[in-house]
Amino acid sequence: MRQMKISVVEGDGVGKEVISAALEVLDALTLDIEKVPVEIGYGKWKRTGRAMTEDDFDIFRSCDCILFGAITTPPDPEYKSVLVRIRKEFDLYANIRPIKGIMNSQDIDFTIVRENTEGMYSGIEEVLPDAVHSTRVITRNGSERIAEYACSLATGKRLTIVHKANILKSCWLFREVCIDVANRNKVRWEEMLVDSAAHRIVLNPERFEVVVMTNLFGDILSDMSAALIGGLGVCASANIGADYALFEPVHGSAPDIAGRGVANPIAAILSLAMMLKWYGMTGESDAVKDAVYEVVSRGITTPDIGGRCSTAEVADAISQVVGIDVPSS
Ligand code: NAD
Ligand code: IPM
Ligand code: MN
Repeated sequence: MRQMKISVVEGDGVGKEVISAALEVLDALTLDIEKVPVEIGYGKWKRTGRAMTEDDFDIFRSCDCILFGAITTPPDPEYKSVLVRIRKEFDLYANIRPIKGIMNSQDIDFTIVRENTEGMYSGIEEVLPDAVHSTRVITRNGSERIAEYACSLATGKRLTIVHKANILKSCWLFREVCIDVANRNKVRWEEMLVDSAAHRIVLNPERFEVVVMTNLFGDILSDMSAALIGGLGVCASANIGADYALFEPVHGSAPDIAGRGVANPIAAILSLAMMLKWYGMTGESDAVKDAVYEVVSRGITTPDIGGRCSTAEVADAISQVVGIDVPSS
């Protein structure tokens, strides 16, 4: 088997803290995997004037995938989000965000499938003196492939298609394509307007299974859904393309808690589990997830989910359980 090689981007703020925790867990698995650190982001931009260079991209291309912490994206028109650029460059069209209760909310278990390359993130913006036009791009191909991905996760489940087709023509295309793809795949589906979906997810989260939506709706509804299962500190994600992927917590660089050693590492560690699954290492992936649930059940948690432990204490405990139960495959 070819040597596995991953790029590791710690990023800014708590990104550094949670990625070092995830790497400790990865090391406990004793896999033969090469890790290539890459510095990109706001910190680098402030220091060098460039947030990411072509050389950084060359390193990414030489690896199988990226394990990513979080990056500060200031609301500064001069600064272009490196994360959005990576998603576009590698055509990581499917952003998969499992919303699974880990503490008191065990009946919640659904997956947000967020289109990840178009919509309001098209990058087509016209800045006029007294107005700014941001263009929302929805294409048939873009909708088709995200709908196919969602259907592949929805076998035997119900697919909820979220849109705003009563108002937006772009959503009208998204809706039509998703319904066609669901019918073609014989997936049971329902549709929901995004405002109503936000309300119903909060009211009855346990009724949802797989939920597909456009880019910005997915960004917003994923943070909202995270709040139902303990917050952003526990929500992982995978950005998947045809032949490349990036794994990252849903949360950002959390400047309000950065540097205090209290960031919850679980979102990053569960993102690592998603990476292992993507590699086909299902046993190792399950071992990491099980270790997270075990440690949480022992009450070894950070303050955001009610505990008193530090990032490092949670990471040590999870690594120890993983080390004991490491699968032999
Ligand atoms: P945020 O996700 O960083 O933080 C939101 C809230 O969640 C904060 O109160 C924070 O303390 C808490 N939180 C986040 N992660 C946590 C963790 N691991 N453990 C405990 N609590 C945690 O969102 P924000 O404050 O709006 O954004 C900060 C910066 O991060 C912005 O510059 C934004 O653009 C950027 N951002 C980056 C990414 C990314 O790189 N993937 C994602 C979202 C936001
Ligand atoms: C996310 C983040 C990103 C997004 C930002 C940092 C570009 O909020 O991954 O959810 O808007 O997609
Ligand atoms: Mn977001």
